[in-house]
Amino acid sequence: MRFDIFTLFPGMFAGVFDDSILQRARAAGRLEIATHNLRAFAYDKHHVCDDTPYGGGGGMVMKVEPIFEAVEKILGADPARRPPLILTTPQGRVFDTAIARAYAQQPHIAILCGHYEGMDERVRALVSDEISIGDYVLTGGEIPAMALVDAIARFIPGIVGDPAAPHQDSHATGLLEYPQYTRPLEFRGMRVPDILLSGHHAQIEQWRRRQALKRTWEQRPDLLARAPLTPMDKNFLRELGWSGET
Ligand SMILES: C[S@@+](CC[C@H](N)C(=O)[O-])C[C@H]1O[C@@H](n2cnc3c(N)ncnc32)[C@H](O)[C@@H]1O
Repeated sequence: MRFDIFTLFPGMFAGVFDDSILQRARAAGRLEIATHNLRAFAYDKHHVCDDTPYGGGGGMVMKVEPIFEAVEKILGADPARRPPLILTTPQGRVFDTAIARAYAQQPHIAILCGHYEGMDERVRALVSDEISIGDYVLTGGEIPAMALVDAIARFIPGIVGDPAAPHQDSHATGLLEYPQYTRPLEFRGMRVPDILLSGHHAQIEQWRRRQALKRTWEQRPDLLARAPLTPMDKNFLRELGWSGET
């Protein structure tokens, strides 16, 4: 899969894409990430990419021309033949596992990072989707772009060591994940639950399912309304005090 990222600050991506799982995926040729400095597409002498807002007010607005230039040069002039182009914005639909899974089916995705007060509204004519990573405002779209690439890439087969893991993690199942433990068996009086040492796979599975239900009920009860629940799950949740639908 290929990502093209348009940004005023390509240096921010070094480190995140050059380490750990994403770096290994890039080295193995499973993931290709190119960052494009929008400043290179501003053709005035000083490569100006921002200007004051029409109508007055504080802050700077990213100019429309370098963004169109960059997208058309890198992705092509014909919108019908371009990959999906995501605008990072706190005004977009809120990113989640379903969106990450859907984008992981695409061979090529482009992401546009805003900065300052945001972008000239006419940029919206270029984009195919608008995504927010949460109901708060960051200084730029670079961290959101990193979050999108990372979360989408996890669903590409072969990127995460255990291929089942991304589909069992919190949110992928509709629930939060059960608690995990590794050695030592006991640490400062905190012991690993005996069931995990029992070797009874069916009982361990049942314990994990119940822990996932309990954790979701305690931490994110809102998720239960959409989670796929069996009649046994519902009975267990009712014992905890859940009063959801049957
Ligand atoms: C300071 S923000 C601009 C916010 C804009 N003035 C508004 O109120 O909607 C600058 C840039 O950061 C990025 N950004 C900030 N918060 C974001 C979020 N929650 N999700 C995605 N992108 C975000 C966007 O690219 C945005 O253009």
